[in-house]
Amino acid sequence: MASKELFLWCVVLVWVSDLTQADPKAPVVQVYSRHPVTHGKENVLHCYAENFHPPKINVTLLKNNVKLANVKQSDLSFKEDWTFQLLTYATVVPNGNDEYLCVVDHQALDKPVTVKWEQDH
Ligand SMILES: *[C@@H]1O[C@H](CO)[C@@H](O)[C@H](O)[C@H]1NC(C)=O
Repeated sequence: MASKELFLWCVVLVWVSDLTQADPKAPVVQVYSRHPVTHGKENVLHCYAENFHPPKINVTLLKNNVKLANVKQSDLSFKEDWTFQLLTYATVVPNGNDEYLCVVDHQALDKPVTVKWEQDH
């Protein structure tokens, strides 16, 4: 390998290791539905976590404090600033009475964050 090439590889390696050793960052969590809420009508509940690091995260969707079973997740992806984002979602049929929560656990949090789905918004 030419020395110029080697030098460039070193620059890249230092840059990558610097990014991966970034301070832990707590996730920012948003809970919203794909469509406007109509009682009795199928919808998709989204729990979007972003700006977190490292990528290890636990996201749980609860209906009346019971874990939803039909939960799916997007691929974990990262943004230019090397923080991660993850979309967790499930099909739900809101009826105006059920309470939906998203619980997110991450090492940068003292305790899991719980965000309620505000269905009237
Ligand atoms: C996610 O949950 C597993 C199993 O309960 C636990 O061992 C792990 O520490 C959790 N990870 C995070 C980042 O909270």
